[in-house]
Amino acid sequence: AEPLNIALAGLGTVGTGVVRLIETNAELIARRARRPIRIAAVSARDRTKDRGVDLSRYDWVDDTAALAARGDVDVVVEMVGGSDGPALALARNSIAGGKSLVTANKAMIAHHGLELAAAAEAKGVALKFEAAVAGGIPVIKGLSEGAAANAIERVYGILNGTCNYILSTMEDTGADFGDVLAEAQRLGYAEADPTFDIEGIDAAHKLSILAAIAFGSQLRFDAVETMGISRVKAADIEQARSLGYVIRLLGMAGVDLASGAPRLFQRVRPHLVPIDHPLAHVDGATNAVVAEGNFMGRLLFQGAGAGDGPTASAVVADIIDIARGEKGAAFSMPAGELEAMEPAESGHR
Ligand code: HSE
Repeated sequence: AEPLNIALAGLGTVGTGVVRLIETNAELIARRARRPIRIAAVSARDRTKDRGVDLSRYDWVDDTAALAARGDVDVVVEMVGGSDGPALALARNSIAGGKSLVTANKAMIAHHGLELAAAAEAKGVALKFEAAVAGGIPVIKGLSEGAAANAIERVYGILNGTCNYILSTMEDTGADFGDVLAEAQRLGYAEADPTFDIEGIDAAHKLSILAAIAFGSQLRFDAVETMGISRVKAADIEQARSLGYVIRLLGMAGVDLASGAPRLFQRVRPHLVPIDHPLAHVDGATNAVVAEGNFMGRLLFQGAGAGDGPTASAVVADIIDIARGEKGAAFSMPAGELEAMEPAESGHR
């Protein structure tokens, strides 16, 4: 069969992970995709950086933006990052040029997902973003396919590995916030700007994406009430523990029935989680998502929410879907049944 030709834009932690995964599992990936996946081009700003993978066999393109115009590319894999700027331009131009787009970029999807999904549908190409939420956990596929027949009542979970790593490590070792954050950065979990992690913004990006899929509502990142963990002290963690709780940063979305017409609430904030709750035992950079539906009951998805291998695994799963002929996006075009509630208090934007 004809290979599916992909271009990799951005060769950081995730990008190099994708190269390694495609090389290591080439045969089984080709079998499952029913055709080989071929890396037609790779691109990043710095050609000289040692990334620990041999990229010399690939066609290196210095100008990442040029990938959108390449005739020999079927799928652009955007791993540049940032909600706007070069990533968004590449995404728009790739789709406009009739290429499918795979992205790990939660900020871009949270801000521009509906526009990109509409463009992809109009062009008959795919927009896939499994890696944008909860790293290696197939929660987008889980909600949009596995839970497709259910009315979802609530979705909540641990959506930021850095915060969970910080909170659970502080709890276990009594270590200082700053030291644990530095370690999370060293391990490659944290965002380029760790404020996004610590202030709950990264979790809010992911929650808004999950909520739009779970509730078929308008994607509204600006409507997520957001509070981070920067004000959580070691003493708070100790106090919570003595009362039988742990502190976890949770994102939660559900239907608010209190005020006349049902509306969608979306919140990210530190929660007290009772130690007998499954989420209390999710430690380190692990993510976990709980979804409650009216026929399936309660599902718990758990796994690595960050890191090169898990995130690359989600990216390549999306590429395989496209190789098999999938088109469109996981967002159903919003029927507008459920309107998002405006946040009572607003986080950092
Ligand atoms: N900074 C993110 C996290 C990476 O810590 O969860 C994965 O999106």
